[in-house]
Amino acid sequence: MIILGIETSCDETAISLIESSDGKDIAVLANKTLTQIELHKQYGGVFPNMAKREHSRNLIPVLKEVLDESNFGISNIEYRISNEKIEKIKEILNREPEMLEQFLAYIPTIEKPNIDAIAVTEGPGLEPCLWTGINLARALSLVWNIPVVPVNHMEGHIFSALLRRKNMETFNFELLTFNSPALALLISGGHTELVLIKSAGKYEIIGQTRDDAVGEAFDKVARLLGLPYPGGPEISRLAEQSRELKVRSSKLKVSEDLEHKTSNLQTIQLPRPMLHSDDYDFSFSGIKTSVLYLIQKLPKLTDDLKTAIALDFENAVTEVLVSKTKRALEEYGSKALLLGGGVIANTHIRRSFEKVSEETGIPLFVPENEMTTDNALMIAVVGLRRASRIEENGTPLKARGNMRLDEAIK
Ligand code: KG4
Ligand code: ZN
Repeated sequence: MIILGIETSCDETAISLIESSDGKDIAVLANKTLTQIELHKQYGGVFPNMAKREHSRNLIPVLKEVLDESNFGISNIEYRISNEKIEKIKEILNREPEMLEQFLAYIPTIEKPNIDAIAVTEGPGLEPCLWTGINLARALSLVWNIPVVPVNHMEGHIFSALLRRKNMETFNFELLTFNSPALALLISGGHTELVLIKSAGKYEIIGQTRDDAVGEAFDKVARLLGLPYPGGPEISRLAEQSRELKVRSSKLKVSEDLEHKTSNLQTIQLPRPMLHSDDYDFSFSGIKTSVLYLIQKLPKLTDDLKTAIALDFENAVTEVLVSKTKRALEEYGSKALLLGGGVIANTHIRRSFEKVSEETGIPLFVPENEMTTDNALMIAVVGLRRASRIEENGTPLKARGNMRLDEAIK
């Protein structure tokens, strides 16, 4: 089975093409991600309409790259799309004039590729952005007569933890399996969810954030510290530096320079919201507000103070995540722990969960580095598993910005 995956839920325009005969060994024919980070950096965050414009401008060029790379972009000047279909495509893409123009200039010049289904993210995410991917999927489905498989983005992140690269040379993956019930912690710029995987494809969200998502909190605190967007990696870099310095100063014969540096390290104590609440929900906006008040009280935000805040912020977030996850692992008798989402790139958070796995003996599944951020490979893989649930019965596909993981499968 060959699946085309399309992901446009936030600020990555991503398309992939995968092939698998058994649903386990997955050959990646092409996998492209065009990030909009540089654009959004200038504004300190993602503006949905700006992101949407970029998606609709870039989807066809990215699709062309994917088809060319996988040798599916075979040109065929004889190929014709009926006028009736062209009218329908114009309707589907009427809010994306630039994509419509590119679509009509490109798609009729290539042969229908040998693709079995198009997997596209239907939610959750930024609705204007989701629509661009969905509309492209619908238009392609119409021209090529192949079904569209709607995919929940968060399920994509769960699957990303299960994809293991088979060897360094080929871009092929093996889909790992685990015993259920299992727990997945999904942490990204838009989401913070603790998900119970009852059995394959059966999910229950047992906890979530009541305000900011973890990544969002990282980004907001980074902004308060005057660090560039996206703030997660910046905070992580500062916190790691500070930890290294502390370790070195405690291990080594302290040189004068190091002594000076470590004596300048401030100790900051931020709150650990909901650490002891008896549910599995999270709240991160309070930590951000504490950072704000702290900065307002400071005569000057020195580099040392920035580092100290970054360190305690990262520690606070990690402590809450680890503590709640550990409790849930125990309560639900979880046999595996899966991590997913952009924040999993964070070294300290990863390391802390590796420790949890060592202590409890519960196997940990973490995405390969390239799979932590949003990508279309994970969407295609979910599509591969769900290829039977296609757009049918006249229920039109639509963007579902607030879609929950437990409504993914009916
Ligand atoms: O999953 P993702 O790529 O996009 C969303 O669906 O949101 O996650 C992006 C988020 C951003 O908030 C970014 O700051 C955060 O992940 N992030 C990190 C790190 N790398 C990315 N947060 C903490 N530490 C990191 N190393
Ligand atoms: Zn994501």
